[in-house]
Amino acid sequence: MSTVQAVRGMNDILPQASQVWQHVEQVLQNIFHTYSYREIRLPVIEKTELFARSIGEGTDIVAKEMYTFEDRNGESLSLRPEGTASCVRAGLEHGLFHNQTQRLWYMGPMFRHERPQRGRYRQFYQAGIEAFGWVGPDIDAEVIAVSSRIWRGLNLPQSPRLEINSLGDTETRQSYRAQLVAYLSDYENDLDVDSRQRLKTNPLRILDSKDAGTQKILEGAPSIRECLDEESSAHFDALCALLQQLDIAYTINQKLVRGLDYYNRTVFEWVTDELGAQGAVCAGGRYDSLVEQLGGKQRIPATGFALGLDRLVELVASLETIPDKDLDVYVIAIGTETKDKSWQYAETLRDHGYDVEMFCGDGSMKSQLKRADKSGALVSLLLGEDEVSSNSVTLKHMRRKNHQVTIPAVDLVRQLQEMVRE
Ligand code: HAM
Repeated sequence: MSTVQAVRGMNDILPQASQVWQHVEQVLQNIFHTYSYREIRLPVIEKTELFARSIGEGTDIVAKEMYTFEDRNGESLSLRPEGTASCVRAGLEHGLFHNQTQRLWYMGPMFRHERPQRGRYRQFYQAGIEAFGWVGPDIDAEVIAVSSRIWRGLNLPQSPRLEINSLGDTETRQSYRAQLVAYLSDYENDLDVDSRQRLKTNPLRILDSKDAGTQKILEGAPSIRECLDEESSAHFDALCALLQQLDIAYTINQKLVRGLDYYNRTVFEWVTDELGAQGAVCAGGRYDSLVEQLGGKQRIPATGFALGLDRLVELVASLETIPDKDLDVYVIAIGTETKDKSWQYAETLRDHGYDVEMFCGDGSMKSQLKRADKSGALVSLLLGEDEVSSNSVTLKHMRRKNHQVTIPAVDLVRQLQEMVRE
């Protein structure tokens, strides 16, 4: 019979790799908390309408990449392709934006039916933060500072590069879109197929094209900076000044437009050359209209980012600096009478915070010791009928030759503490 394989683009994270994941997740959570962000946990499935109304019908994500299905009631639902829309939905549903600001973080799997390749998966993981209620550039700078601290917190030898841009207000984008379409229409037949299509649906996304011919044409294209409204321009200048003050290096990339429709003003991406074609590790920006667009009575300014955990873990894994947590004790019991006692000792050691593995099933002393050796435990606890009848235990140091002691059972924890410390 054939075996069943995982769905394409959806990965298993095996025990050894999950150590790196846990380390990265822990560092991220600590950093989010040091900036006073609080966790929000959101469903993996939402109504399809939520993403259509926020990310935008014309975007690749909504038009081509969502896992959408009808549930048993005939309602259209989708696996979430990102977390921002759910955050806004939950905030509105639970009154989190009523006369209060919010700093939130989330972490979890997202789903996009993209063509799988290194760093691009159909189930991938994001950690994100979203700040609601602040209109000024200081919160944009804070969000960027959080991401910048993450690279330091994980000791990445080379920080990803920060690229920033401003998309201005709605009028900015409308007038820029018109200028860009007018310019590119003259070259329509020389554009790549996707860009030709986007000229009609989502012209700003042409700026993202990887096609060399299209990139050449774009060199002469008008820049969004010239269409920027005065307030957005001042906001952007103030953000740049704050980043300089925080000593965060950046470059302005006028072609950075992002693939989701909800952004205005600040957008940014952290990119690296170390992951091949999928270089964006973290991306985000400001989305001041989204709360209103999703039914909020007021305009609530907002800004945030999401970072791609699969990509970040790959960067960290190449460093091999994650300390391996060793097993402390392996429990070996020989003879039928000894099993109950061995359970009792194992549980006592766990109560004291030690990691303990027990031999399960039947096995000779030799085979159990072999397992203990393989387990990587520092100490083996040996229990035979002699030990049980004299209320004692034998501890064997697995990294030292002939280092074995038999002691009264009451001294077990104290003796183990000594052996671990040695
Ligand atoms: P995004 O640029 O679509 O933005 O995704 C953010 C990050 O998620 C990317 O930079 C990348 O690292 C990772 N990512 C995206 N797609 C995949 C994939 N198929 N495989 C692996 N990693 C992937 C957002 O999702 C916005 N919600 C960010 C945001 C939050 N803006 C404001 N707040």
